[in-house]
Amino acid sequence: MINQFVPKIINEIAKINTENELMNLKSKYLGKKGEFTIFTNSLKDLSIEEKKKQGPIINSIKKEIESIIADKFKSLKRLAIDKKLAEEKIDISLPSKGSSNGSIHPLSLVSEEIVKIFTQFGFEVFEGPEIESDHYNFEALNIPEDHPARDMQDTFYLGEGNLLRTHTSPMQVRIMECNNPPIKIISPGKVYRCDSDVTHTPMFHQIEGLLVDKSITFANLKGVLNEFISRFFGNSIKTRFRPSYFPFTEPSAELDIEWKDKNGSKVWMEVLGCGMVNPKVFESVNYNSKEYAGLAFGMGIERLAMIKFGITDIRYFYQNDLKFLKQF
Ligand code: DAH
Repeated sequence: MINQFVPKIINEIAKINTENELMNLKSKYLGKKGEFTIFTNSLKDLSIEEKKKQGPIINSIKKEIESIIADKFKSLKRLAIDKKLAEEKIDISLPSKGSSNGSIHPLSLVSEEIVKIFTQFGFEVFEGPEIESDHYNFEALNIPEDHPARDMQDTFYLGEGNLLRTHTSPMQVRIMECNNPPIKIISPGKVYRCDSDVTHTPMFHQIEGLLVDKSITFANLKGVLNEFISRFFGNSIKTRFRPSYFPFTEPSAELDIEWKDKNGSKVWMEVLGCGMVNPKVFESVNYNSKEYAGLAFGMGIERLAMIKFGITDIRYFYQNDLKFLKQF
């Protein structure tokens, strides 16, 4: 009787085409209530002698059945893969989809261009930390606590005397603190202010410039910046230095350029802040302000890019809209 199982199963398995059917067959014979299981369970009433004889036979038949089923599983799997591969023929004569090239982000373009111009003037490039201490961002730049100038820069405070730097000017202090004059550096990077509208975003980019040496005058400041403007915006651009106020420079100015608005009328556009380093800042880094003088400037990269490309909403820079980005 037990010998019947194997040929019977082989016979049935030959007609099976799917894994599902095979699963059903397996449980039909080997499941808890399967034919083979019931049959072998029924042998429990045999004498001990008989059990010893039958046990190994039953086990070896069970193993044989299991291996027949496992082989069938493998062959069904193989068939399924072969079928899939046959359907997946690749037509190598089809034209390719092509690949599209990315482009450099306009802010990177503008930043790289500004850096290039100043390195041609002999300025060295340094980057600084975005998390700053109150000391570098304000205190050492002659902006003491409770000074109204702090209101000009709405600050993200981080606690424990730390904040997200509101400008790149702290780099003036960091560089002077560990170098002796002459100093001739620029420092590009991200800055943060709690501010958001069509011309302001909470994170934006600035480039700071600092030149310290003996006998530096406002004439040097005008010379450097006028030359920068003519290389960046074009030779024929008119500039004007308008008196302004920054605690870390004295005197201070804002540089405007003459530009054409949408309707073609001439307007003055504010481009950057600048001035002669305030002796108070020199004091905080132990420089002798009788011996040395410095010129400093700071500009917003988004602002320069907006003027240069005629972009009216700063948020375009951060929306990752390919229609916008591909124009550059
Ligand atoms: N730090 C100023 C700001 O973010 C910009 C600035 C003005 C930088 C005058 C300077 C400077 O170095 O001399 O508004």
